[in-house]
Order: sequence, then structure tokens, then C-alpha cells
Amino acid sequence: MVGLVPTMGAFHEGHLSLMRRARECGCVVVSVFVNPTQFGAGEDYQRYPRELDRDAALARKVGVDVLFAPSVEDIYPAGGSTFVEVTGLTEGLCGAHRPGHFRGVATVVAKLLNIVAPDRAYFGEKDYQQLQVVRRMVRDLRIPIEIVACPTVREPDGLAMSSRNAYLSPEERRAAAVLSCALTTAQAMVRAGTMGADDLLTRTAEIIAAEPLARLQYAELVHPETLTPVESVGPEAVLALAVFIGETRLIDNLRLTAG
Ligand code: PAF
Repeated sequence: MVGLVPTMGAFHEGHLSLMRRARECGCVVVSVFVNPTQFGAGEDYQRYPRELDRDAALARKVGVDVLFAPSVEDIYPAGGSTFVEVTGLTEGLCGAHRPGHFRGVATVVAKLLNIVAPDRAYFGEKDYQQLQVVRRMVRDLRIPIEIVACPTVREPDGLAMSSRNAYLSPEERRAAAVLSCALTTAQAMVRAGTMGADDLLTRTAEIIAAEPLARLQYAELVHPETLTPVESVGPEAVLALAVFIGETRLIDNLRLTAG
């Protein structure tokens, strides 16, 4: 079996955990490609960390068999005019703030799946909307592979690992713990019996507002599969956040469960 871990490189422990999980397939392929079509104008495409030699050494250490690092021309042949668009699921959350982002993600993931032809592909739950978009695309296009979701890996203070954490100054890095603090507070509220979206989202916004370096872009309570807003947790819902810490936009989410 072949397992694919699609990445944009600048590996951290989150990526390495996907690669370790993918070792359940006999052969592990990791792609490293900073995909231009998923970045909007004014976003960090040029600045995104590119560390291929370091990434190759880390991949080798965790037992990756093939590191696939295509060029932009390999993925987007000159004159190409085909894109993959997943509707509905991409309208809210990050999709509402990053127009075209998920079109770029769905397109590059479809291409990587076609090129590598894996049996399984591994995605982190930190990019929750991306995971659902990829699942939907694979289902709708009848791509014969299994999507494996892997848990978010966190720093000791709760900050979800992300290549963009490297942009944070020491002060911002300290402030960034506010995302996971807001999520775990919401989970504690749910366990104590608060189920309503209004109460949970109000408290989330208060926690983010109390951190001077943080600016909330969105906090939403959504259904885990459809990603549509829900009025209460029900048996399960996902609390999803996007927060600017200084100039750096970070996302995180937590599946809230009653009981
Ligand atoms: O999550 C990422 O690193 C990227 O969005 C992905 C899935 C590799 C597509 O470029």
C-alpha cells in the first residue's frame, strides 16, 4: 500500500505525526509543494518558509520512502485551465475570508492524488475545513482512496502546531496560546452544561478580546460534517476559530462533545 502525506513543507511535529501514521502503509510518499493557487493576493506565498534540505533530513529520520517536491510547472502546466471546486462546504469559515483558497487546495490535492495514486492520504484535523473539503472532493469525484484524519499536535501551552507559528515574535508566540485557551474553556462550559452557541461564542470572543495582541476574525460553532452553523452543541459540534496574532493569521478548532 502507498500512503501520501501532502504538505507545503517547513515540517513540524504535526507533519511528522502524519508521516509516522502513514507508515501503516508499506510505502510512504510525502509531497512538498507551496501551492500558489491557495494563497490570495497580499497573503504570504512569497514569504512562506521553504526548507527542503531540512525537510528531507527529517522525513528520512521518520522513515519516509519518497519525498516528492515538484516545481510549479510540474503541477500547473503552461496554459492549464482546469480547477476543482467544492461548493457549499467552502462558503463559510475560512472560505468566507479567503476567496479561492479551497479551490486552490482542492485542485492541488486532486493533482497530487492523480500523480502519486496512493491508497490512503493523511490530513491533520487542525485544518478542519480543508479535511472536510478533501473528503467531499474524493467522494464526489469517486477517487478510489481513503482519507485518514489525524489529531492536531499541540505545543505544551496548547498552541496548535503550524508552519506559520514561525512568523510569531516571542511576545506574539506567548499571546497565541489564547486560541487553545478559548477552545478548552468552551469545552469546559459544555461539560458543565452550557450548550448554546450564543453563550459559547460570546465567551470565546471575550477571551480573545482580553489578549491585546489578538484580533478575532471568526469564531463559529458548526456541524462537524456539513460545517453549517448550529444553535447548540447537540451531541457534537466543532468550534472553529481564526485569529490574527499581530499580522499572523492562525486557525484552530475543537470538536465539542456533550457528556
Ligand atoms: O495543509 C496543507 O499543507 C496544504 O493545504 C495542502 C493540503 C498540502 C495543499 O497544498
